[in-house]
This record gives sequence, C-alpha cells and structure tokens, in this order.
Amino acid sequence: MPPHAPLVLGIESSCDETGVAIVRGQELLGNAVASSVEEHARFGGVIPEIASRAHLEAMVPMIDQACTEAGVRLRDVDAIAVTSGPGLAGALLVGVAAAKTLAFALDKPLYGINHLIAHVGVDVLDHGRLPTPMVALLVSGGHTNLLLVKDICTDVVSLGQTIDDAAGEAYDKVARLLDLPYPGGPHIDRLAAQGDPRAIAFPRGLTSGRDMQRHRYDFSFSGLKTAVARWVETRRAAGAEIPVADVAASFQEAVADVLTRKAVLACVENGATHLLIGGGVAANGRLRALAEQRCAEAGITVRVPRPTLCTDNGAMVAALGSQLVMAGATPSPLELPTDSSMPIELVHVAP
Ligand code: KG4
Ligand code: ZN
Repeated sequence: MPPHAPLVLGIESSCDETGVAIVRGQELLGNAVASSVEEHARFGGVIPEIASRAHLEAMVPMIDQACTEAGVRLRDVDAIAVTSGPGLAGALLVGVAAAKTLAFALDKPLYGINHLIAHVGVDVLDHGRLPTPMVALLVSGGHTNLLLVKDICTDVVSLGQTIDDAAGEAYDKVARLLDLPYPGGPHIDRLAAQGDPRAIAFPRGLTSGRDMQRHRYDFSFSGLKTAVARWVETRRAAGAEIPVADVAASFQEAVADVLTRKAVLACVENGATHLLIGGGVAANGRLRALAEQRCAEAGITVRVPRPTLCTDNGAMVAALGSQLVMAGATPSPLELPTDSSMPIELVHVAP
C-alpha cells in the first residue's frame, strides 16, 4: 500500500534554477531555490555550461536548506523525485546524479519525472486535487503547450504547442529589442501597464481560418517578434522616438489574446471546466486578467499557482512525485537516464 501522505524530496535542475523541496502529500513543507539568472543576464539568455556549474555549487546547500525549512531529516523521506527531462542536458545531469545518490544511499524509490507535467501537478499545493478532465496551458521561456489532463499520473494528452518560439522567449526577444534587461517578461509586463494595447495592430499567429484547421491548438510567436522588430526598426530609421510602453502593451495584447483564445477553445471542445495556467509567463498580469475574463464568459474556472510556484522550483517536482507515489506508480530504475527532449505525454520514467 502506498503511503497516504508520503514525504517526498523533489529536485529540479533543468534550466537555470536549482530547486529542492519537501512535500508531504499535498502540503509544501520546505522549498529552496537558487537561481543563476544573474550570471546569464549579460549574455541575454541561458548559457548551459554556466547553468550546470551553478547547479553543482548550489545542489547540496539547497538540499540542506529544504530539509531545515521542512524540519525533516533525509532519512525520514519516503521517496526522491527529480526532473529527468526535458531541459538542458548538462543541467539535468546534475539533478539526476544528486537524486540517484540520495535514492541509493537512503534506499528509497526514485521517480524521474517530466518537468512540464510537474508545472501542472504543482497546483495541488495551492488549490488541492486537480479536477478532470482539465486543460493546462504551459507558458515558459522554453515551452508553450496546451495539454488535456485526464489523469495527472497516467493520462496527459498534448493538444498543441508552439511551432517556433516559446511565449517567454518572444517576451525576452522583444525586451532585448527595446533595450530592456534579461529576462524581459517582467519588464514588458510592467511597462505595458502604462501603454495602449490597441496602439499597434500586431499579428495573431495561427488564428486565420486555414491555420485554425491545420494548427487549431498550436501557437507561433516568431512572426509577431519579427513584426515588432520591423515596426521598431522603421521608426528608428526615420529618427522617430519609440513609444516603448505602447509597443510593450500591443505586443503583450497579441500574446495574451492568442493564448487565451486557444486555451478557452480547447476547454470548450474537450469538455473541461477548469483551465490551469503554469510556467513563468503565467505570472503575466494581462494574461491572467484576460484568461479570467474569457473563462468567466465561457463558464470555466481558472487555476494559477502562486507566482513562486509558476517559475521553476523543486516543489513542482516533489508535488508530482508525491502524486505518483500515492497512485502506486512504479519507481524509475536507478539507471534513470536524462532526456533533454522528453516527450510531453510521458509523465514519469518507468522500467
Ligand atoms: O518557467 P520559467 O521560470 O523558466 C523556464 O522554464 O523557461 O519561465 C521563464 C520565462 C522567461 O521567458 C520570462 O521572461 C518569463 O517567463 N516571464 C514573464 C513574466 N515573468 C516571467 N513573461 C511575461 N510576464 C511576466 N510577468
Ligand atoms: Zn519550467
């Protein structure tokens, strides 16, 4: 019999955050996160080698911090969960090596889990059990996905994804164009609040009649990014001032419009009464407001984890690990490999 409320330690190291957390059942006891984002800022994007080294340095201190916060000893833990993909290969290796070491030394089961599904599973810590079926919109620096979640442990279906840039990536690229610091999402979010979202009519990718037949739930942000670049370049070439707040607001409106339009459609067409939004871009003010408004009109309830649980962290890994333990899922083998392009429908790695 799996424990009713297992004590699970979760490790996340797929990108630039080293996260370790301890969860008991659906309760978050300790959550330690170290970020190397400052070290990447001057390059305008994450440098894999720098991220891997930062994970190595932060891993043991984060494990200690999570245990201290939670008031538990390592030997009390029932299971170890770790992001085994998708993500940066070298970065993933650090977390998986740490998790295997703990699982072997403590003689506890190991669960290699999918980072993207963990962005969904984390919401049990804030809002309790996940309703089914549910649609999840994942929007981060590396991913933009629409998922139909029938069972978080066994049945996650991919409805659509970006065919080029991720939503967060588009935010970061447009921010760079406007000479804003990396990561650009929060800066655009802040500036957009002072701008006019209708000032410039930027394109809504994959929303035309024909595109909706072939790419109903898919996204494309590369054309939008290019449109913003052209608009800004033309103004600069003419020696005109750039109305940065209006550009930010109009760009953000185009992103939020397409994301929410397709997410609501996915809910309606798949009989889902709940939409969960996760990933770093879920912190975006306009995306949240428009999602609330459009979902309310369609009778759909929106769930968004608190902002610190939307960005990468160990709690999401521990939370999904705990749900797998409670569902009696088979643990991963100690030979667990990392998989930088882990398929989105694979919730965890089983033998
Ligand atoms: O999930 P996350 O922390 O890391 C990845 O797995 O990528 O997401 C980071 C992304 C970055 O692209 C960042 O610019 C974006 O989330 N982001 C935002 C906001 N806060 C973070 N984008 C728009 N509005 C925000 N408030
Ligand atoms: Zn993530």
